[in-house]
Amino acid sequence: MQEFAGSHILSVNDFDRSHVERIFAVADHMEPYARRRRMTKVLDGAILGSMFFEPSTRTRVSFGSAFNLLGGEVRETTGFESSAIAKGESLYDTARVLSGYSDVIAMRHPAEGSVAEFAAASRVPVINGGDGSNEHPSQALLDLYTIKSELASRHRGIDTLRIAMVGDLRHGRTVHSLCKLLCLFDDVQVVLVSPDELKMPGEIVEAMRSAGHIVKESDTLESSISNVDIVYSTRIQEERFQSAEEADLYRGRFRLNQAVYTSHCEPNTVIMHPLPRDSRDNARELDDDLNDNPNLAIFRQTDNGVLVRMALFVLILDVVGDVHKHARDVNWYTAGRFQ
Ligand code: NCD
Repeated sequence: MQEFAGSHILSVNDFDRSHVERIFAVADHMEPYARRRRMTKVLDGAILGSMFFEPSTRTRVSFGSAFNLLGGEVRETTGFESSAIAKGESLYDTARVLSGYSDVIAMRHPAEGSVAEFAAASRVPVINGGDGSNEHPSQALLDLYTIKSELASRHRGIDTLRIAMVGDLRHGRTVHSLCKLLCLFDDVQVVLVSPDELKMPGEIVEAMRSAGHIVKESDTLESSISNVDIVYSTRIQEERFQSAEEADLYRGRFRLNQAVYTSHCEPNTVIMHPLPRDSRDNARELDDDLNDNPNLAIFRQTDNGVLVRMALFVLILDVVGDVHKHARDVNWYTAGRFQ
């Protein structure tokens, strides 16, 4: 990828380190708008086509909120049943049609590579909001942005990061994209904790080793989280298994709760999760008893998602320099929401 203006965001493979740093710098500038201290109308008249063919709450809503906060409007299609795809329409035709109604499209689809196929036929930029088990670039960007901001107060950065990724590393698209992004940084140590059947794909492990990172694989939680800055927990991706019974074999295998955290983690180890966490009794990969732990960063992650998605929109639609020109102060009640 040369420039952001007019580009699709399909895979983190298209980024180099300067792209990531640029997105983070623009995300920092979005803070007063996302935190409701200022409002801008820089995307007044623009339309986001939001097309989510798999369940989604935060990704779908935060893309929409980000666009609204920039003054644009959102048109949503959710689920195959409410789309002409259910009548046999091809991705090509859907893309040709929808891109006539939108200025940018965010799309999630269960099939790997489908968002890229859609983008090839689209007349406007497309952002991949998750294509099967493959990638979830905007999530990886917000995760890395969160890692950077959480570690800044500890005087540490992404270079030399020590991170444990835990859970369904085979099907988890967020960890696939995050590992690929980490390849752009230096001296990272990664512990990949999963059941043997749910290991990180070999080519991603190889890419990290080729980038000079130290990668260990493990099937036990407790011994893997004792010397890390971040524990990044993930949900067993039930929807990628043949049956719920098969997913049950792995659900609940790794449970991080306050007692495990206190016994095994260094003080101030940051806890992350792309969410949703599975709160059912047989899962609980991240227990509710961590909710009062100040190092639980999961809701700072979701708040940061808005900043990062706003940054992507202003970069792709090439209005970074105009955001402040279309701005004014907010004076409605917002106290205490963003802490
Ligand atoms: C993730 C996803 O959809 O890949 N959720 C999200 O977008 N924040 C992770 C998951 O569903 O487990």
